[in-house]
Amino acid sequence: MGVPAPLPRAAAACLWLLLLASSGSAQSTTSADGPKPQITSMLPANMSVGVSPAVNSSVVKFDRDMSTLGASLVFAGRTLPNTTAEASWSDPRTLVLPLHLQENRTYAIGLNGACRECKGVRAAEGAPLQPAVWTFSTWAAGEPAVSPGNQRDSAIEVLRLVLAEYAYRDRLGVDWEARWRAHRFQMEGAGTGVAFAEAAAGFLGAGRDGHVFLDVSGDVVASHVPVVDRNVNASLLRGIVADWREPNRHVATGRLGTSVRYVAVRSWAGGEEDYYPVSEALMSSWRWRGVIFDVRESAGGNVSRALEVAGHFVDRRVPYASHRRVDASAEGGFGPTEQLWMEPREEHAKYDAGVVVLMGPANVGAAESFILMMGAGGATLVGQTSYGSLGNPVPHALPNGVVLHLPSRQELLPNGEVLEGRGVDPDVAVEWDPSGADDPVLRAAVERLT
Ligand SMILES: *[C@@H]1O[C@H](CO)[C@@H](O)[C@H](O)[C@H]1NC(C)=O
Ligand SMILES: *[C@@H]1O[C@H](CO)[C@@H](O)[C@H](O)[C@H]1NC(C)=O
Ligand SMILES: *[C@@H]1O[C@H](CO)[C@@H](O)[C@H](O)[C@H]1NC(C)=O
Ligand SMILES: *[C@@H]1O[C@H](CO)[C@@H](O)[C@H](O)[C@H]1NC(C)=O
Ligand SMILES: *[C@@H]1O[C@H](CO)[C@@H](O)[C@H](O)[C@H]1NC(C)=O
Ligand SMILES: *[C@@H]1O[C@H](CO)[C@@H](O)[C@H](O)[C@H]1NC(C)=O
Repeated sequence: MGVPAPLPRAAAACLWLLLLASSGSAQSTTSADGPKPQITSMLPANMSVGVSPAVNSSVVKFDRDMSTLGASLVFAGRTLPNTTAEASWSDPRTLVLPLHLQENRTYAIGLNGACRECKGVRAAEGAPLQPAVWTFSTWAAGEPAVSPGNQRDSAIEVLRLVLAEYAYRDRLGVDWEARWRAHRFQMEGAGTGVAFAEAAAGFLGAGRDGHVFLDVSGDVVASHVPVVDRNVNASLLRGIVADWREPNRHVATGRLGTSVRYVAVRSWAGGEEDYYPVSEALMSSWRWRGVIFDVRESAGGNVSRALEVAGHFVDRRVPYASHRRVDASAEGGFGPTEQLWMEPREEHAKYDAGVVVLMGPANVGAAESFILMMGAGGATLVGQTSYGSLGNPVPHALPNGVVLHLPSRQELLPNGEVLEGRGVDPDVAVEWDPSGADDPVLRAAVERLT
């Protein structure tokens, strides 16, 4: 029903260029009755960066019916948008401002101003909008452009994927649809893949899931960066553990006294051969009373490495955990629960002395799989509860080329509880010494083995 309000060119007044509606009736209305109208959304979004210069209008929505007789606009900022066409009301709650944008500019748009005549944006009942200013920036030449249509479809696809494919959709009780409505303009107005990914990450961050992230041609945009405590001090360990060796950055070995072997896996991200020193350190188990297997520093990586290392400690096939995949067509939203197994290492005899695993709050992902395997194999777990984040993110390509990674299955503890946000408990809980001067976890493990 648009009632176009033509906006004649006006002279610049100080910093501000006022473009006043020609229909004077709105400004001259004296009945400022009723509640003040509120802006419910604006596109391009306030403070958004990477807006495409191809965006050809600004769309402002209000919470109530507005007077469609005119609008007073205030354009400010470093550059004035080049408006050649007329602002118009596409319906009584939606104001459309035509824009001509250039690359690599910051724009500001204002509705209403401080002056008496600058109150043309008002509710149908009469109350004027409180002066509102918002800013946005366009992308610079050279950044990859994406079409606004793609952004819209991609924003819709992000919501669809969260609702249909995300295993932890309901974990924190997030109202994803309401949240999406609040974030969609940022996604839709993004002029680059990275700007889109950042907007989508803002939407997805409510899931507080380190395994939800976006990939823009190899640049990863995280939706959540977990802050983890550590119950280990690597430099302190080097002073305590005798014969300290670091054959590579994934593994360290040594001994405690003459009777306890020390093996640390500090990362699960290496190749198979990076863990051969672990196999070597576990040979001649008859020489030792036991082994302290320290994984406190380790986080994610390749679960194949965890299976290969844990295979030294069993002589038969052992179930260690389970998982279930999202299946929107299944009752309860998940497919059948599948048991996960570990296998003995055929070329190595089972490690045959006492085994204590040191664990803690930095353990996520493959490290948690390893802890579950070792627990199932009969090792004693010492330290603090693990972080509780074990995702196998599945990539989903969006129409704009950005790839969204979402965990598609829930990992379950042996008792059937969901691991996410819960973690694996140790058998022997030991608090960390925050002064860092001592390693009480290591000490508790040595006491158990000697
Ligand atoms: C603005 O862009 C859209 C596509 O995003 C196009 O359909 C529309 O015709 C354009 N409007 C003008 C006035 O150029
Ligand atoms: C402003 O818009 C007009 C009409 O589309 C165009 O010809 C002109 O080049 C634009 N000026 C700037 C500075 O962008
Ligand atoms: C836009 O964001 C800035 C900075 O947060 C704020 O001062 C301004 O009021 C916002 N404008 C609108 C219309 O919300
Ligand atoms: C974008 O604008 C800034 C500030 O004017 C300038 O320093 C920068 O070189 C521009 N970038 C590109 C890619 O044009
Ligand atoms: C994990 O390791 C296995 C076996 O070595 C390999 O086939 C697989 O590609 C690795 N996965 C990743 C994500 O690197
Ligand atoms: C770790 O141990 C070293 C060596 O004992 C010590 O100097 C350092 O302060 C400790 N770091 C922390 C964070 O406790």
